[in-house]
Amino acid sequence: MTKADELATDKKDEDGAALPIEVVYQENICFWERAWNMCKVPYTQLPDLSYIPRIADELNKVGAKRILDLGCGSGWLAVYLARQGFEVVGVDVSAQAINLANTWAKQEDLKISFDVGDASQLQYQAGSFDAVVANSIFEHFPIKQAQQLTDKVHLMLKDGGVFVGCFDKVGGGPGEYYSLEDGTHVYTDKARKGMMLRRYSLEELQDLFKDFKAMSNDEVDGGSIFLVANK
Ligand SMILES: C[S@@+](CC[C@H](N)C(=O)[O-])C[C@H]1O[C@@H](n2cnc3c(N)ncnc32)[C@H](O)[C@@H]1O
Repeated sequence: MTKADELATDKKDEDGAALPIEVVYQENICFWERAWNMCKVPYTQLPDLSYIPRIADELNKVGAKRILDLGCGSGWLAVYLARQGFEVVGVDVSAQAINLANTWAKQEDLKISFDVGDASQLQYQAGSFDAVVANSIFEHFPIKQAQQLTDKVHLMLKDGGVFVGCFDKVGGGPGEYYSLEDGTHVYTDKARKGMMLRRYSLEELQDLFKDFKAMSNDEVDGGSIFLVANK
């Protein structure tokens, strides 16, 4: 890896040097903690997404029992799956998101294990999940970090396990941002300062999941990509 690979291109520090990706990555994490801290009580409704029942269908197809919800936020998908009897672990980098998720699960008397953790530092054992689900989370990583995460997902899955994810059609709309070398936007406006956002093309997703035995996908909800990858 060249030094340039590690650097954000357009963003300069006071001496005119590009910011190391580690700094940009941490700023994204700070953005999410700030965003979740604005939310004091859990919003205990499922989002209006057409593909929600398909997630459980895909898990049932492979007989999955133990599921990891990656970047679980305040826990709607973990709660939805736990209601149906799946054993769910949810992980998110935001402590406040995990507080909200725990509060919601407690209200419904659901046994879900929620962990605060950075996706780049996951400590779960190899082969310890039948399935990994990820809704609207890869979009917040540059491609190199997304590849590392996909490799980790592959490792954490049992043979025969499945990844089910949705990748949003993001990146349009108003906002001020600069771009990393791979095209990831890093927002600078007050509301979203530090948030990274990247719209993945189908070709990029096929490349990210190339180590899986099979991959299928289709377009949902106005252009998002619903993706299933079998190990
Ligand atoms: C768009 S939200 C999606 C949350 C949830 N999956 C959903 O569908 O509502 C992105 C989530 O990724 C989490 N996140 C961002 N960076 C992360 C990281 N480095 N490690 C783990 N989670 C992260 C955020 O805290 C946030 O909850």
